[in-house]
Amino acid sequence: MGAKKHHVVCIPFPAQGHINPMLKLAKLLHDEGGFHVTFVNTEYNHRRLLKARGASALDGLPTFRFETIPDGLPPSETADATQDIPSLCESTTTTCLAPFKKLIARLNEAGDVPPVSCIVSDGVMSFTLDAAAELGLPEVLFWTTSACGFYAYTQFEKIKKMGYAPLKDTTDLTNGYLDTVVAGIPAMKGIRLRDIPSFIRTTNPDDFMLRFISQETTRAKRASAIILNTFEALEQNVLDALSSFLPPTYAVGPLHLLETSLTDRLDQLGSNLWKEEPDCLNWLDSQEPGSVVYVNFGSITVMTPGQLTEFAWGLANSGQSFLWVIRPDLVSGDNAVLAPEFLKETRGWGRMASWCPQERVLRHPAVGGFLTHSGWNSTLESLSSGVPMICWPFFAEQQTNCWYCCNQWGVGMEIDSDVKRDEVEKQVRSLMVGEEGEEMRRRAAEWKNLAAAAAAKGKSRRNLRRVIDEVLLGKV
Ligand code: UDX
Repeated sequence: MGAKKHHVVCIPFPAQGHINPMLKLAKLLHDEGGFHVTFVNTEYNHRRLLKARGASALDGLPTFRFETIPDGLPPSETADATQDIPSLCESTTTTCLAPFKKLIARLNEAGDVPPVSCIVSDGVMSFTLDAAAELGLPEVLFWTTSACGFYAYTQFEKIKKMGYAPLKDTTDLTNGYLDTVVAGIPAMKGIRLRDIPSFIRTTNPDDFMLRFISQETTRAKRASAIILNTFEALEQNVLDALSSFLPPTYAVGPLHLLETSLTDRLDQLGSNLWKEEPDCLNWLDSQEPGSVVYVNFGSITVMTPGQLTEFAWGLANSGQSFLWVIRPDLVSGDNAVLAPEFLKETRGWGRMASWCPQERVLRHPAVGGFLTHSGWNSTLESLSSGVPMICWPFFAEQQTNCWYCCNQWGVGMEIDSDVKRDEVEKQVRSLMVGEEGEEMRRRAAEWKNLAAAAAAKGKSRRNLRRVIDEVLLGKV
């Protein structure tokens, strides 16, 4: 690897679903763009990465280095759990600009790395735009959501002006009001209020997340360019809509399919905040092709002990083999244990784990369906592996991802938020052995091919090249 002339600072929002795609992008900028990379984690997450993956997992290259800044939150009692997202949004917005600027100044003074020449920041870390403006650097904002989720966020002000939100009172959550079709969002015909990102469902006009999202989407207009981890064939409609009012917007995904020929050392750098249990891949090896339901609700979803029980018996009663990943902090309260009867009944055909190498699991031929919370990374990883989904969206833009999976892309069926075991059983059967599942599997296989084509030599790869050349290197 020769000497690097250009230096990009990549800074993700400090949550798993944001760090993963940013690290993939950073590796591509290093290997394909020829950049010296500084990757900025929060101190809290840096400690977690060291614990989960060991020191060597963060031991980059002389030209790919990790740095840290504080997240601004008070020290947490648990050193190994998902932090509260609204608190993180507030603390990063109000406290991170100063340490971020200090870090850039230190990098520029150090003399052993090229001067910082551009910034790639998470879309919800828009305070970084102030640093870029002060230093006269180009900055690309990376929104790690789906394009449809991001587009829905950009419509929050309009939705408020049209009077759909905030809700009049909490009875609107249960009286059918959420089924109202939201008129006036041209790229999302037929979408209901319940499919708009969860932060809109508040009765408080001053709600922090409502204001935060409006602020971040407004500030996005100041970026040199915006990139999204999606591909044009999947989200052309909303990508066109976004391009009509935002800076140049590029679809560069699925990033995990673009990073095929990385240098070995970079390939080993990972971003999982929990320790993976790779043994579940050996278990999958022993299962029939397409026979296993994979169940995982990502890094932020929290459920009640009652919901856990409903999922458990729904899975057990379906009779389908399953791999169920239960994150240590998935269940709220202290009743997180599964009934011994459930474990006894499913022994042999149900496998539990606490965290897994998800991309590899979804690519495994034994996996035939995915019960998911519809986080964007999970959705994209599933689609591009040809795996259809049962969607149980939790928060943020997951409701919008779910609506697209079920109503536009033909690869999902939705499970009621008030989950019941009978519905889980019915849907799992339908997904794994029913006609509906078969049709969804056929559609998912089509998306898998289109995703692979976009990443190989298609539009996503060309878009990434354009972002590098035209925006980050400013050659045009
Ligand atoms: C969040 C939001 O939920 C999501 O809607 C938003 O778009 C991004 O941030 P999260 O809830 O964690 O992320 O879900 P998701 O987006 O699916 O990201 C989870 C990531 O962790 C995926 O890349 C997945 O492959 C990885 N993962 C998850 C594992 O590697 N192993 C696991 O056991 C679970």
